[in-house]
Amino acid sequence: MPTAMSHEPTVLVIFGGGGDLAWRKLIPALFNLHLDNPLPGHFAIVGVGRKPLDDAGFRNHLRAGVDLFSRRKPANEESWNRFAEHVSYVSDDFSTPASGPALSRKLEELERVWGARANRIFYLAIPPDMVEAAAAQLQRIGVCRDCLRDRLVVEKPFGRNLASARELDRSLTGMFAETQIYRIDHYLGKETVQNILAFRFANSLYEPIWDRRYIDHVQITVAETVGVEERGGYYDQAGALRDMVQNHLLQILCLIAMEPPISFDADEVRNRKVDVLRAIRPIRPDEIHHHAVRGQYGNGTIKEKAVPGYREEAGVATDSPTETFAAFKLFIDNWRWQGVPFYLRTGKRLAAKVSEISILFRPAPHQLFPSAAVENWQPNRLIIRIQPEEGIITRIQAKQPGTRLLLGPVDMEFRYRDAFRSAPPEAYETLLLDVIRGDATLFMRADQVECAWKIVDPVLEAWESVPPGDFPDYAAGSWGPESADLLIARDGHHWLQPIIKTMENV
Ligand code: BG6
Repeated sequence: MPTAMSHEPTVLVIFGGGGDLAWRKLIPALFNLHLDNPLPGHFAIVGVGRKPLDDAGFRNHLRAGVDLFSRRKPANEESWNRFAEHVSYVSDDFSTPASGPALSRKLEELERVWGARANRIFYLAIPPDMVEAAAAQLQRIGVCRDCLRDRLVVEKPFGRNLASARELDRSLTGMFAETQIYRIDHYLGKETVQNILAFRFANSLYEPIWDRRYIDHVQITVAETVGVEERGGYYDQAGALRDMVQNHLLQILCLIAMEPPISFDADEVRNRKVDVLRAIRPIRPDEIHHHAVRGQYGNGTIKEKAVPGYREEAGVATDSPTETFAAFKLFIDNWRWQGVPFYLRTGKRLAAKVSEISILFRPAPHQLFPSAAVENWQPNRLIIRIQPEEGIITRIQAKQPGTRLLLGPVDMEFRYRDAFRSAPPEAYETLLLDVIRGDATLFMRADQVECAWKIVDPVLEAWESVPPGDFPDYAAGSWGPESADLLIARDGHHWLQPIIKTMENV
């Protein structure tokens, strides 16, 4: 559970203050932090955006978001009013060279009242193609120059490919110190994602069998039921590969595959993750179709409601070649993982919202039970459920009750909700608190981002050069295109249907 805020005076400036991320995620997260520990007096949230709003209008807009999206919604009147006192708005367009004076004045005014130079955090919750210009303008007006106090938070995707990520990095590190730059991947703030480290390295039970000798393959599924909602304009330029695979899925893979760091120091942990990314076998151009497939949803039904296809969504081209689904097969060329396939898949408008990692163990080396007893037999499986119903399940074989010898799978289950009797904090709560405190452990370093682009770049290039001929190729509400089933079936495996509350889907 996040604990106290820093007591140092702090201003959090949110660029894109009137945008979707601030509305759905950032402000609800900050409001929850405030409920847990009321914000210190010397804390201010300043939204910056092009919309012409005054403070009251901005607060009303944010309040509606908190009532819809906060994990403790709706907001209690009194708590909201106390929170809202810390919130103000500056209307400005940071893509223009004339921008900035109003924000500078706001910062000076706050610091004059507080009688101290604050830690200033500039959160760039704006489209990727606007990041560089906004950062340059911040640098020009000189409000983010203190290497120890001032921080810049950059959302993913960081760049559009390896070359542009390097370019953006060169530009940002030319203006700010690397220690000031917080590249956010909100999956790393998720409680269960962090728990992967605790599970692997605070317990001795699994580590001895966490390698190619015992593990047959690994599946990582991040499935969403939502479409692109109001973000069609952004998404159509990004696609599933840039939006999810290059960051969230590869980061999860790193946590599963990394070697134990020698300490929990931010750089130690990040070094071990970079080792994994560097060891991922590059996908050769002539082998791409064996390692990566894409898909795009057509219309269909989700939770008994008809939903439109991707090309019918607002902001999306009617002949869009953008993928809304991607599946990968990757190998990690090191001693621990040689020959063990890691299958990754993610998509929008799939049958269920679920993120989970399945570790499939090798079968017992000798089957001593009669074949009639093992009709329902399955190899051991460990499932790390990131969301919903956060928890860990170990699937073992047990004798079914009765006079007949019959084996079947049963689950040993740990659920966060039951074990701790509280809902885990939202990822953005954890990450915002970390930025405020200046702890970069859960943020991406430039070399991590680069290594991740190196892995997906050949696929991006191939997909961009050969437009898909068969889009849309999966119905909304399904588990994705047939090509994804073939990708894994070629190795004699199949995607495991996530265990959704009951076992009926398995
Ligand atoms: C974001 C993507 O990073 O993650 C979105 O840009 C996606 O497209 C979202 O919907 C999923 O996050 P979560 O926390 O709902 O799994």
